[in-house]
This record gives sequence, C-alpha cells and structure tokens, in this order.
Amino acid sequence: MRFDILTLFPHMFSSPFQESILARAIEKGLIQIRTINIRDFALDKHHVVDDTPYGGGQGMVMKVEPIARAIEWAKSQDPSAWTIYLTPQGKQFNQDMAQELSSRSHLILLCGRYEGIDERVRELLVDEEISIGDYVLTGGELAAMVLIDAVSRLLPGVLGSDRSAEEDSFFHSLLEYPQYTRPFSFRGRDAPQILLSGNHGAISLWRRREALRRTSMRRPDLLARANLSDEDKKILEELFQGESINDFGLRIKMESNLYLGLVHHPIYDKRREVISTAVTNLDIHDIARCARTFGVRGLFVITPLESQVQLVERMICHWMEGAGSVYNPTRKESLSLVRVSRSIDEASREISDLWKKKVMRVATGASPHPKSISFEVFRKLLEDRETPFLILFGTGWGLTQEVKDNSDYVLAPIGGRGYNHLSVRSAVPIILDRLLGDRVV
Ligand SMILES: C[S@@+](CC[C@H](N)C(=O)[O-])C[C@H]1O[C@@H](n2cnc3c(N)ncnc32)[C@H](O)[C@@H]1O
Repeated sequence: MRFDILTLFPHMFSSPFQESILARAIEKGLIQIRTINIRDFALDKHHVVDDTPYGGGQGMVMKVEPIARAIEWAKSQDPSAWTIYLTPQGKQFNQDMAQELSSRSHLILLCGRYEGIDERVRELLVDEEISIGDYVLTGGELAAMVLIDAVSRLLPGVLGSDRSAEEDSFFHSLLEYPQYTRPFSFRGRDAPQILLSGNHGAISLWRRREALRRTSMRRPDLLARANLSDEDKKILEELFQGESINDFGLRIKMESNLYLGLVHHPIYDKRREVISTAVTNLDIHDIARCARTFGVRGLFVITPLESQVQLVERMICHWMEGAGSVYNPTRKESLSLVRVSRSIDEASREISDLWKKKVMRVATGASPHPKSISFEVFRKLLEDRETPFLILFGTGWGLTQEVKDNSDYVLAPIGGRGYNHLSVRSAVPIILDRLLGDRVV
C-alpha cells in the first residue's frame, strides 16, 4: 500500500517510520511512504504557500494553487489514489475507517498548517476529510502518522501474526481482554490462574468473557453495536445474572423508566449563592444501593468539575474492576448503575438519546413550587413506560430556582410539618419507596 503525504514539514516523518513494525513493513515492501513538500509546487520566486485570509482575521491560510498542483501531480501517477485531508472538521477516525482504508492501494494525505487550507481545495480536490479527535493540532502531520500507523498494521504481513490485529480492541466492536505477563505475582496481585492452565479452550472463553465484561463496563456504546453471537449473549446473561443491560451497560430491570440525578452543580449554598458542591463517597454508595434496590435504571452523578469527575470515575473503577469488585461483589452490582455527567443537560441528552425520546425532568426540594405535583400524580406519570424520567436531587442547600423552573415537573416536598431538611441520602429512599415501593418484586 502506498501513502503520499503532502506536507510543508517532510522532516517530521523521518523518525516515526524508521522504528519497529512500520520500519519493517517498509523494508519488506508492504507499505511505501513518500513525503511530498507542498512548497516545491509553489511556482513563484519565494515559494510562497500561504497568504492572509480574505475578510481579515488571525493567522495565514494555505494557498489553493500549490496544494492543487501537488495533489494533481500525485494523482497523475495513480488516478485511483484516494485523497484525504486531515482536519479537525472531518469525520472522526476509528477502527472501522482504518479497516475500510486498508483496502485501498494508495492514499494521498494532505496535512494542513496555520489556519488551514483554502476552502476550494476541499471542494475540488479532496475525497474525504478525517479528524483524529476533537482537539486542534498545529498541523495535520501527527494526524497523518496516526492514520498511517492504524491502517498499516491491518495490512497482511505487517504484524507478526495476522491474528493479533483481530484480537485488538475495536476489531469486533469489543475492547480487548486484560493482558498479563511474568511475573505471576506483583505486589500481592496474581495473574489469573486460568491463563497458566494450558487449556486453550478455557483461556479463550475467559478472554471472550473478560472482553465482553470490560466493554460493557467501559464502552457500552461499542457493545450496543457489536455483532454478538448467541454464545456471547449467553455469557452476558451469565455475567449479568439474567438481567438485561441497557445501552450504556447498566444492568437493569428493563421495565424501569426512572433515572436519578445527584446534582452537584448548580446548587445553592446557605446564602443562596450558586456553587458546586463536592461529591461524597457515602452519598454515591448509599444512593446507588437504594437505586439498585428499587430497580432504578441509572444514577447520574452530575458535576462539571474535572477533578470531581475523575474522583467518581476512580471510585467506580475501584468497585467495578479493582480490588473492591472482588472484596464486595454486591457493591459492584449497585455501582454499575452510576454514570458521571458534566451537567444536567448532558445527563438528559444521554437518556433522551438512548430512548430516542425527550426525558422528563423532575426536580425535588424541601419547599413547594408552583409546578409541584403529588407523589400520586407522579406514580401515574411513571406508568407511561415509553417515557423516561430523570429525578433531580440537590446537594448542598438544594437545586436552584432555575433548575426547578426549567424542569418539566417539581415533586412535592416530603413532610413539611415545620421541619423537613433531609440529607439527600435520606430523601432518595423515601421518595423511591413512595414512587416504586409496591412495584418492587
Ligand atoms: C491549527 S489547525 C487549523 C484548524 C482550523 N482553523 C479549524 O478550526 O478547523 C492546522 C491544521 O492541523 C491539522 N489538524 C489539526 N487538528 C486536527 C485533528 N484533530 N485531526 C486532524 N487534523 C488536524 C489540519 O490539517 C489543520 O489544517
């Protein structure tokens, strides 16, 4: 397979392809990589390749003529070559795209620089636009290297064994199983005994099982797309003890249409100023256990603070996959309901996307609201199993007025005989019992 890289910085490519697997693939003639300096196609005296943008604005734009000449020169040698512009505005690169591209014999990869390229290059000369992720690089060279690496390793003969690529993450829309090598024991952690058993059937079953488990925990979106065999479905059923897993890998009673949101922002403090509260280990554990008990479909911990997001993810990981999962498997079961979201809108979007239907938001609080509905009315609403509901629970001094005003409903407060200031950990079980108590089997 041939890669022509159109770039202003050809030297960037010298070392990445001189090492390891790709160097060997070049040596064996399995891939050919050629860099073409776009500057060589600028015909003026100073080889100018960029100019200021029409309409003003920052930076420079790569001119259309040198790029057009460079592409046309590469194509003149092979009209079937496929021209790709690496750009953050392109389709996000993934394993399926790598697979598809690996069936082509010749790719021309155009690397932009500065503010990008003149739009007419895209309109007239580019077959496909690809991004390697939602971030902006200074140039397309690193993106081209990523693409070449991912595509090349799929070509026959490039990897040591043709099977290795097939077992990698994403190949069959599954993440790869965990890998171990010597030593057997490290800091009290042993490698799984089965991998040393020499029983290939048992090992491959273990690996399939772990790949399915890992994908359902980390990338349930992939699992939803995976082509699962009957055997896989059986394994999943076993893993999830006969329960269904929903689209984001939660083990649930499918009939449930109720989600909880534990909101850490926007929240009032005691002076009614809007703040973000800190996540609390105990709240998450207790509310997740309660949610599991009542067959709730998912618990979203909502915080925009990156450090808090990471904290919750680390905590979930400890109980789902780390030492905690072995120490206390039932805790794992409840925490499998927990997701972290950056905002109420993000959590709502996720649910609406899953259901292909707008989620109804229901706020809670200690004081009545003009939109307040009784528990009885809400129980009736929940009977519409086609509609998902997200009950929002405030932390700190409660949900802001705006969150309540923007919700579809506000649930009547608990109590109200003078004092009803409950912790969120206390309010959740009371509310769930009132709403779902008699539905639990
Ligand atoms: C600074 S970027 C220009 C970004 C452009 N102004 C925009 O907002 O779309 C310069 C070049 O880097 C490359 N590039 C930057 N981020 C990329 C990404 N995520 N994937 C692929 N190429 C990227 C593109 O070739 C782009 O033309």
